[in-house]
Amino acid sequence: MAGKISRNSPCWCGSGRKYKICHEAFDHKIAQYARNGHMVPTHDMIKNPEQIEKIKESCKINIAVLDYIEQNIQEGWDTAKIDQIVYDMTTDMGGIPAPLNYEGYPYSVCTSVNDQVCHGFPSKDVILQSGDIINVDCSTILNGFFSDSSRMFCIGDVDPEAKRLVDVTKESMYKGLEEVKPWAFLGDMGQAVNDCAKEHGYSVVREVGGHGVGIEFHEEPFVSYVTKRGEEMLLVPGMIFTIEPMINMGKPDIFIDQDNDWEIYTDDGSLSAQWEIMVLVTEDGNEVLCY
Ligand code: MF3
Ligand code: CO
Repeated sequence: MAGKISRNSPCWCGSGRKYKICHEAFDHKIAQYARNGHMVPTHDMIKNPEQIEKIKESCKINIAVLDYIEQNIQEGWDTAKIDQIVYDMTTDMGGIPAPLNYEGYPYSVCTSVNDQVCHGFPSKDVILQSGDIINVDCSTILNGFFSDSSRMFCIGDVDPEAKRLVDVTKESMYKGLEEVKPWAFLGDMGQAVNDCAKEHGYSVVREVGGHGVGIEFHEEPFVSYVTKRGEEMLLVPGMIFTIEPMINMGKPDIFIDQDNDWEIYTDDGSLSAQWEIMVLVTEDGNEVLCY
């Protein structure tokens, strides 16, 4: 990927500096990993400071929407109300809910309750009851830049076993986050998530995962949590991706609702939890951009 650029030409990153004093050594380092058989990021997965600033502005809306829901969600709400709040708040702040019409998705947010793994449709018929656990997954487009994060909420009196699933899922996400640093591998993160889930007797969904994000809603790489340390893509500064494990109390198997081709449930009917953050690989570690 480096070969063709003249050393005195402007760098591909958009800094305006000459390639030889900007990303040349960086590209050589990456190429060395590729020669050693590792998957490595392409230039379009590496965001520059201007792009990162704009992505952060998008994240502010996403965070504000989830903060509001966190402070107000309660027993008796139907999930269509959450959809309306997300739409109204996002557009009031100048954004667009990214899920709306994305590959035909018909709502502004995903609301996944109990044994729903992800992509739950908001509905007037889904009324939150004491004991429910729910994931609210928000994504925003602002000035063409994408943000994406989700949180779990416990409604009323939640069974301690369900609460533990919610807490361990969050813990596993942060265990994964600890592994995110330049010149580490995505598999380091994946294994940390998986080990944490397994230690607690839970299983990790294999078919759905995280993704690069920022310029598009879903970019490469695919971010799995059933991967091994030292494997998967090399991490370098400027990459942005989500950590969003879905963890089941029972078996890892899932099924997709055949009526709408979106909503995903656990096959065995066991509870499932998910948290999602957006993380930037920095020069010396990572920065959480969205939560
Ligand atoms: N927000 C989800 C994610 O974390 C994407 C849902 S796809 C949608 O990647 F179409 F439902 F928006
Ligand atoms: Co996501």
